[in-house]
Parts: sequence; structure tokens; C-alpha cells
Amino acid sequence: MTRVLPPDAAGIAEAARLLRAGALVAFPTETVYGIGADATNGAAVAAIFAAKGRPRFNPLISHYASAGAAFADAAPTRLAEQLAGRFWPGPLTLVLARGTGCRIADLASAGLPSVAVRVPAHPIAQALLRAAAFPIAAPSANRSGRVSPTRVAHVLEELDGRIAAVLDGGSCPIGVESTVLDLTGPSPRLLRPGGAVAEALAPFTGPLAADPPTAGAPLAPGIVAPGIVAPGMLASHYAPRLPLRLDASAVGAEEALLAFGPALAGAKLVYQLSAARDLAAAAARLFEGLRTLDTAAAKAGLTGIAAMPIPREGLGLAINDRLTRAAHR
Ligand code: TXA
Ligand code: MG
Repeated sequence: MTRVLPPDAAGIAEAARLLRAGALVAFPTETVYGIGADATNGAAVAAIFAAKGRPRFNPLISHYASAGAAFADAAPTRLAEQLAGRFWPGPLTLVLARGTGCRIADLASAGLPSVAVRVPAHPIAQALLRAAAFPIAAPSANRSGRVSPTRVAHVLEELDGRIAAVLDGGSCPIGVESTVLDLTGPSPRLLRPGGAVAEALAPFTGPLAADPPTAGAPLAPGIVAPGIVAPGMLASHYAPRLPLRLDASAVGAEEALLAFGPALAGAKLVYQLSAARDLAAAAARLFEGLRTLDTAAAKAGLTGIAAMPIPREGLGLAINDRLTRAAHR
């Protein structure tokens, strides 16, 4: 049984103690819940892959309390320092060259010469990182190929009995994962659109090259697709069990509806992401919506989910990325 720890001083201290002992503890960040392990402990990192049932060793993000701590393990470029100054703590992950004396276990970076680092803003994540005093490797706290959890109930649905504990932080305010930006090449590459929107990054990075989730998937205007897929970027990811149809302009008799704005006529089962068409509200409800509809639609005897179109701008880029992956099977 996985223990649910309260996010008070005693809960944080117990979570840090468990991590130090090599155990797995899930914790909230402003994006989604992560399964944490001591990033410097290869055996603890290996246990993450076992708990997730990951088919292979994808590189993980290491989390830090401060940019100073992150840049002790990852070699910052000038741009990395500028982005850290503007976006950390926050939903941005930077892929950088492994620094000399980097403490991160090779398994956490899947043997790559680069490391992914992030300073989360969530107060519980911050408190845990300060108590632990080592980097915490944390992928999203879901079983491999499933939707990321944004509440403790989702974490338990995915991982009860497979991790030692979870810190209870309520709902994650952003609801989609961090933006992953690769700064190891000649120009920055957007490996995953996420909580830090491309429009806010562009003044620092210039136009961003994005890796498409699937060949031919629509990208935002101004984003070019070099067609190179990053390690760990499986096309089919975040998948609900029922088939998902995107950009629906009508809903079939056998379909549940993931609505954005006034719901399409005739839907028997609707999950509203945002009636007011607010992208931040929709991002925060996205994974909960996919989970809820997946279960409720199957119970109601429906055979698929139709998703209404969502603008491909701001957080809509991350929302469409996750929906495209969920639809790909
Ligand atoms: O919001 C988030 O980022 C959450 C919370 C818990 O921080 N974490 C998360 O981790 O989404 P995960 O493991 O589900 O996704 C990490 C992403 C993967 O797409 C992986 O391929 C990429 O980061 N990544 C990590 N290290 C990398 C590296 N060295 N080079 C390229 N991509 C890397
Ligand atoms: Mg994930």
C-alpha cells in the first residue's frame, strides 16, 4: 500500500527520508505529479522504470530547488542562464550538456551526454527539494503510455502499491507537463510543448523548431518541423483506452465529447474543458477530462471520444500535442 503523506513539515521530512533511503515518492509540481527518486542513486532511478512499467529507459528530468543547484550538474549556456532567470522556478525543462562532476546517475539520463533539468515552482516540490538536498529524478507519475496524473487519486489509480508514498498537494494548477527545450545543438529545439508557452520563449530563443508528435500532425503557425524525434518521445503516449478523434465538428451517436466552448449538439456524455474557451483552464482539466471520459464513456456503452478543436497557440500547442499523441494508436 502506498502511503498518502500530508504536505506539512512532518510529511515533507518523511518523504525526504524515504527518498534518501532509495524509495520512490510521488509529489506534486505545478504541471503534473511526478514519481520522485534520488537522481544520484542508480538503483532508485531503476526502480522508477520498474514502477512505471516503461518498455525502455527513457531519459528523465532532474528537479532542483534552485538554478544554482541545477547548474552544478548541467553546464549552462548563456541562453540557459537567461531562460532560468526568466522562467525558473516554473514549467520549463532545459536539456544541457552534462557538467563536469555531474552527480546524476547515468540511468537517469539514459546514458546520454546531456541532462534534462528543471526548477519547479510548486511550494511542496520546493520544500521537498530543499529537505532532500539532492536532485530528484521524476517522470510523470503514470504507468507507461497512460495519461499524466494531476491529483493524488490519479496517482493512486496508476501506482498504488508500486511506490512508497505520495505527498498530497491537491490539484496541479497547470495540468500539462513542462516545456522541454534542448539547448545542446546549434539552435534551440522544442522537444515538447508544455506549460511555458512558445510565444513567451521566442523573444529569448528566436523561432523554435518543434519536433512533431506524429508525422504530418498540424503544428502552430511559425513552428517548423525538422522531423527528428527526440529520445523518449513515443508517438503514442498519454493514451486513453477508447479511440480519440480530434478537431471534431460533429459528435457521433457512439461518441462521448471532450468540449471546448459551447458543446456540440447531440452529445450524450460531455466533459467541458472550458465553456469560456480559456486555454489555461482547459490545460488544467485536460488529463482529468481524458480519464473521466474514458471511464464514463465505456460504462455508458460508448465506443469513442470526440474532441472539439482547440486553437494551436499558447497552451493550446501543448494541449493539441497531448491530444494528438492520445489519438495515435
Ligand atoms: O512537467 C514535467 O516535466 C513532469 C514533472 C513531474 O516535472 N515530468 C515529466 O517527465 O513530464 P517525463 O519523464 O514524463 O518526460 C520527460 C521528457 C521526455 O519526453 C524525455 O524524452 C525528455 O523529457 N528528456 C529528458 N532528458 C532528456 C535528454 N537528455 N535529452 C532529450 N530529451 C530528454
Ligand atoms: Mg510522462
